[in-house]
Amino acid sequence: MVFVVCLGPAAWLVWRGVNQNLTADPIKYITHFTGDWILRFLIITLAITPLRKILHVPQLIRFRRMFGLFAFFYAFLHFSTWIGLDQTFDLTGMWQDVIKRPFITVGFTAFVLLIPLAITSTAGWIRRLGGKRWQMLHRLIYATAVLGVIHFYWSVKSDVRKPLEYAFLVALLLAWRIGSWLMARRKGMVPRTTARQEPRTAESVQR
Ligand code: HEM
Repeated sequence: MVFVVCLGPAAWLVWRGVNQNLTADPIKYITHFTGDWILRFLIITLAITPLRKILHVPQLIRFRRMFGLFAFFYAFLHFSTWIGLDQTFDLTGMWQDVIKRPFITVGFTAFVLLIPLAITSTAGWIRRLGGKRWQMLHRLIYATAVLGVIHFYWSVKSDVRKPLEYAFLVALLLAWRIGSWLMARRKGMVPRTTARQEPRTAESVQR
């Protein structure tokens, strides 16, 4: 059910496309729509750990990987819109855009950082890398979220309210993590994963 709900925004986009209802500037509309959903899914993914701890609902962890992969899915659509519709597969134009427009450089970096996370999201990769290394790698999601917000902030011309709202949420989630890490350290509770205890699924790796 959660999977189908997460597909909702994409289905909505397809529906509007089929009905030729993507506004006067469809490329801009699709780019903005998918961009918004990447950030929403990144924030939902980052919110899982605080929510399950605050609300005492450990089962929420089951959905974290799916939300993360949906962030990647919408990022892929966003990136593909830029490659196919905006740049019409013009490699030189793409390269010029990446190096000349700082907000594209930052967005591109954020997307590239998401790729290893999507690839290594399987149980097989967790076993191969080991829980600790896997967890370290998957901390890249924080960098992606911060870069995604900067990318959005730099892309808007005047009204910065929406990027600032996202920035506030990302900052809050990062502050929560830093706070709980500092508290655990003070109590001497920072978990140490040994080779024997290494988690075998994305769901069992705590972040
Ligand atoms: C994880 C990575 C990324 C995130 C989180 C992200 C997020 C966003 C957001 C939220 C917006 C604005 C949506 C709105 O106005 O409501 C946006 C716009 C845009 N993004 Fe991204 N983006 C990412 C990666 C990329 C990449 C890789 C490219 C292309 C190389 C790209 C190109 C653009 C463009 C061209 C716009 C439209 C700017 C405008 O019309 O002024 N983004 N992105």
